Parts: sequence; C-alpha cells; structure tokens
Amino acid sequence: MTIALGVLVSGSGSNLQAILDRVREGSLDADIRVVIANRADALGLARARKARISAASVLHTDFPQREDFDRELVRLLREAGVEWVALAGFMRILTPEFLTPYAGRVLNIHPALLPACPGLHAQRQQAEHGVRLAGCTVHFVDEQMDHGPIVIQAAVPAFADDDEASLGARILDMEHRIYPQALQWIAQGRVRVQERQVVVAGGARVFSGQFWTNPPLEHPFNG
Ligand code: GRF
Repeated sequence: MTIALGVLVSGSGSNLQAILDRVREGSLDADIRVVIANRADALGLARARKARISAASVLHTDFPQREDFDRELVRLLREAGVEWVALAGFMRILTPEFLTPYAGRVLNIHPALLPACPGLHAQRQQAEHGVRLAGCTVHFVDEQMDHGPIVIQAAVPAFADDDEASLGARILDMEHRIYPQALQWIAQGRVRVQERQVVVAGGARVFSGQFWTNPPLEHPFNG
C-alpha cells in the first residue's frame, strides 16, 4: 500500500530529505502530496520543490488563534488528499482542530529517548545532563507535547566531550533512518496502537546479548 503523506516542517528539513530520498529509491511507499512550512524561509520548502513536490507556506503569525492556523493546515492537507501527516522539525503545538480530523494519523520525530528530555533543545539537555545513551523517537502525536505512543527509538552513545552540536549530529543521523522506517511500517499496514503500546507486526526482536551499554561492559561483565 502507498500512503498519501503530508509533511510539515519549520526549518532545514533534513528529515524531510531523508523521507524524499527513501521514496525516490523505492524503499518507502509514500506519495508525498504536499509539504507545508510555517515559515516562508524554511529550507524544507526548497527541498520539496526540488523534488517536484507541491510546497506551501502557511505563516502562523497570520492567524489570530492557534485553532485558525490549524484549520487552515487541515484544509490544505485535505485538499491535497493527505491521509497521514509527518511532522519533521515542525515547531508548533497542534490543537484538537488538527488532531481530531487526523486522529491517530500524525507522527513526529523527537531527538531524545522519550519520555526523557521532551521539549525544546533536547540535544542540549542530553549533553548537559551527561547521559550515556542519547537517541531519538518516532511517536504518534497526541495533544500533549512529545507524548504519544512510541513507534521506534534509536539509541546512540553520548560522550563526556560531546556538546549539543556533536551529539545532535549523531542523533540526527539515526533520525534519518528511523523516520522513513516507521513510515514504511505504516505503509505496509503493520502498525497497531493499543493504548500506549505500539505493535509492529512481524517486527524482529533483539535478545539480551544485543543490548547496549555505554561505556561497553568489560570482562567478565560482558559474558
Ligand atoms: C530534528 O532534530 C527533529 O528531531 C526535531 O527538529 C529537528 C528537525 O531537523 N523535531 P530537520 O528540519 O529535519 O533537519
């Protein structure tokens, strides 16, 4: 099955690019109907146009209330035939005006292992806290920020000499892998949500020997 996808961006759109690249190479069965940014200068718009995908900017500052902005987004997405929405660095909180018509069909990527470090500057929060494992999360969007059921997470190591930028780059590299993967699972009809649990049909399991520590365990603790 191919999903009719709309992507919302605010900034550079590197996650959008990862999605576009996977669609182009045939590993993600998505028809990207429209890319919408809430900033006219979002680089994501240029990435969409380069891929010959319709791109629009809808400036939240043009709307008196959040709900008005959300209604306009829904109108444009519906007009484009969008069934699933991927937030890719979209820096606005969505209200029920958006989330009711697209209930259970909105995904987001967050650069931390939720529920740790929700909100802004998650990469900085992780670097400053001195976590050993940082990461990223693809989750369904609900009305609370960075909160909905989790589809996939990736862990990356964090080191004492990391800062926001170095750790952020390591996380971003994994974002670009897990977001297209999550969308492909949805396109394949393999994703089911049971309250807070997301079940991916046919998903492989990792077993104890494959779990991560950072720093690595040394002999004899690694046996
Ligand atoms: C990513 O780190 C994403 O997790 C966060 O915002 C950033 C967007 O990056 N929500 P990009 O615009 O996809 O390059």
